[in-house]
Amino acid sequence: MNGARYTSTAISLHWLMAVLIIGAFCVGLYMANLPLSPMKLKIFSWHKWTGITIFLLVFFRIAWRAWHRPPPLPPAMPRWMQVAAHAGHAALYVLMIVLPISGWLMSSAKGFQTVYFGVLPIPDLLPKNKELGDSLLLVHQILAWTMATVVAGHAAAALKHHFVDRDDVLTRMSLRHSTLKEKTP
Ligand code: HEM
Repeated sequence: MNGARYTSTAISLHWLMAVLIIGAFCVGLYMANLPLSPMKLKIFSWHKWTGITIFLLVFFRIAWRAWHRPPPLPPAMPRWMQVAAHAGHAALYVLMIVLPISGWLMSSAKGFQTVYFGVLPIPDLLPKNKELGDSLLLVHQILAWTMATVVAGHAAAALKHHFVDRDDVLTRMSLRHSTLKEKTP
């Protein structure tokens, strides 16, 4: 399908995942330096469940995107900006996959199995190995900060479209805009 606008499902997934990614990032930073306590372990679990949810949702999102092509970027955008926008989007998809995998690998190596929502044990990907766990924590941190940087650039670009270029790149990612367009031929 080649639609000239985002579907309501694509818009809902976009904002749901934005909230989950920003939430996982902030909770990750908050929990990192907490003293060991039952509360810290609980927050670790919330963080891991959020990360696994992002990991599951991204495959649904990629499949949805493959079947419902997103609207094209404004033709007035310079070519280099279009390339940068596509590269940023591709980087976000890659990070939505590899960042959760790095957390999953790290938890496995540190010997803390993830039990999704406290009921579904997720198989460990690696045997327990403290040194490897510490190296994977560094990988997880680097990927998390890379994700934060790309998300910040993505949001800044969206705001520039809205307030400087005054095009509809930001508003077309709104459910209200999508419903209005569905009603007006
Ligand atoms: C998009 C998803 C994710 C984001 C944005 C994210 C982000 C972060 C951040 C910012 C930290 C703090 C790093 C630091 O400063 O020390 C962190 C720590 C951590 N993350 Fe994630 N994470 C994600 C997914 C996951 C997943 C899926 C798991 C495991 C299944 C996981 C397990 C952990 C653990 C165990 C820590 C604490 C490590 C420690 O201090 O020993 N994360 N994460």
